[in-house]
Amino acid sequence: MRGGLSKTFAVMGAVGLLAVSACGNSDDNSGGGGSSASKDVTVFTWWADGGEKAGLDGLVSTFNTECKDYKFVNSAVAGGAGSNAKQVLANDLAAKKPPSTFQAHAGAELGDYIKNGQVDDVSDLYKEFGLDQAFPKSLLDNLTVDGKIYSVPANVHRANVVWANPTVLKKAGLDATKAPASVDAWIADLEKLKAAGVKAPLATSKGFAQEMVMEVVLLAELGPDKFTGLWKGDTDPNGADVTAALTKYQKLLSFSNVDRDAVDWPDALGYVNKGQAGYTVMGDWVAAQQLADKVPDSAYTYWPAPGTAGDFQFLADSFTLPTGGQDPEGAKCWLKVVGSSEGQKAFNTKKGSIPARSDAVPTDYPKYQQSAMADWKSNKIVPSCAHGAACSLGQNDSILSAISQFSGKPDVGTLQKALAAAIKSS
Ligand code: GAL
Repeated sequence: MRGGLSKTFAVMGAVGLLAVSACGNSDDNSGGGGSSASKDVTVFTWWADGGEKAGLDGLVSTFNTECKDYKFVNSAVAGGAGSNAKQVLANDLAAKKPPSTFQAHAGAELGDYIKNGQVDDVSDLYKEFGLDQAFPKSLLDNLTVDGKIYSVPANVHRANVVWANPTVLKKAGLDATKAPASVDAWIADLEKLKAAGVKAPLATSKGFAQEMVMEVVLLAELGPDKFTGLWKGDTDPNGADVTAALTKYQKLLSFSNVDRDAVDWPDALGYVNKGQAGYTVMGDWVAAQQLADKVPDSAYTYWPAPGTAGDFQFLADSFTLPTGGQDPEGAKCWLKVVGSSEGQKAFNTKKGSIPARSDAVPTDYPKYQQSAMADWKSNKIVPSCAHGAACSLGQNDSILSAISQFSGKPDVGTLQKALAAAIKSS
């Protein structure tokens, strides 16, 4: 790497979005010819716009070539990190109306769908498509539950990244070529940016983005082993080191934009690109967004979040075969594409992520992904809670409501208690 809506109301809004999204998108990606409605493959994601949509389009173009008997139908629901999509999906699954396939994070989040009997075992497909040889053993182990595998991973994303505007940093006399060495050094730089007239030097956005800021501070302050132990129940969430980290998180949040609970991650990135902020913490889907928005390489820089160099906080998007889903044969063709080297290349070159397969050729990828591939091999790997590798859907719901409460009324004690309770729950 280079140097208060009510729940009901939110669900209604999300359902509305689905309707718009389904009408708006289903035909702009139409698949192979001669398909009838019964051969539709409905693919549920939250990749509705920008770089995320560009990644999905890459998969669709491979699907159109490889799966000519089927027609891709886009069931994307907009909203960063599935903020609207997950609720819509939960409703569809509860109503026994699953799509042909849906996006889910490898790890604890996928575990929820397995536990609820909502996804089928796809171990046979691994043998049929040679996926048991294609993915690294560590990832296969991560995906295996009681000897079975329930999804096909499309990628590996990195969460602990800071994206910065070098022009803004230089104006405040800061070195844009490397990350501040620690969270404390970062806070000192944020003070300097403020003194130089940048009102909200750390751009962030609602829900999961703030959770990601909290996670990178916990990772930096606890170190990778204690951080991983936090989610596994081996690190005491009530400990004084967690209190100290959350106090630094509180300080960081005080440097952020006042509209943080009203905007999504592309807006926060926009503040950095427009020079209104110095930094944003976000996963490397930002690299895809910059590519889609044609932001030149020279206009931004990126580092591991301060204090986390050498740690790769990962998450992996994977696709499932829902129990009772529409046209499972078509869905299997989608899964074949997702796991194939062509599909992973078409997807990941556009998505900012790196392929989950071990046989990818780094020079096929943009500069950012080349650096991420090198770090993935050499760094210490730790999981993301916000993106389901370490935390279940229920745990994340509880953490998100604590994060949103904290944003309105920052009280470290209340946040720590809520975090500890969420970790204890399943
Ligand atoms: C994550 C997902 C990424 C990206 C991001 C922002 O949960 O794994 O692929 O879509 O949300 O929306």
